[in-house]
Amino acid sequence: MDFYGILKSAHKGFGYLELLLVALFIIALLTTMFGFSGKVNKFLKKTTLFTMIFFHVQFLLGIIMLVINFTKGMDMGSVMKNADLRFQYVEHPFSMLIAAVLMTIVNKKVKSNDTISLAVVIMGLIAVGLFAFAFPWAKVFAGA
Ligand code: HEM
Repeated sequence: MDFYGILKSAHKGFGYLELLLVALFIIALLTTMFGFSGKVNKFLKKTTLFTMIFFHVQFLLGIIMLVINFTKGMDMGSVMKNADLRFQYVEHPFSMLIAAVLMTIVNKKVKSNDTISLAVVIMGLIAVGLFAFAFPWAKVFAGA
């Protein structure tokens, strides 16, 4: 397997892990908001931290893959014209990048406060929404 193949398999593998972490993060966020009246707990701290860490790992792997594609002379004109390629090389990286930034902010808030505000919950849910939009479900579950 070549270097790009190794990156892509690692990126896909961490993709599964991130799916589990994001699911745990949503449960922690909503139970904290509606179960613990916003009081920060260990479950929320841990799920937020690991979700953020693997967003950063995925960003690192993803950006290297993007750079490799650009150095191989990927033509952005044809990428933008093709919906699948546009999703894979523009919408997916860009949306996941914004989600990673939001998760970094949420983690900082969760770490440095005893309670979480509605604004932090909304930010967390927007990050999860972007993740769900940008996650290549067909590629992962239908093996497309
Ligand atoms: C949590 C965040 C992320 C997850 C769960 C994720 C997941 C995935 C998955 C499952 C694939 C399909 C791999 C395959 O076809 O075998 C993929 C492809 C890709 N991802 Fe991500 N990704 C994330 C973040 C990012 C970021 C931030 C970037 C770039 C900045 C990125 C760039 C790419 C690229 C370029 C591909 C296409 C690889 C190819 O088919 O040549 N990803 N991603």
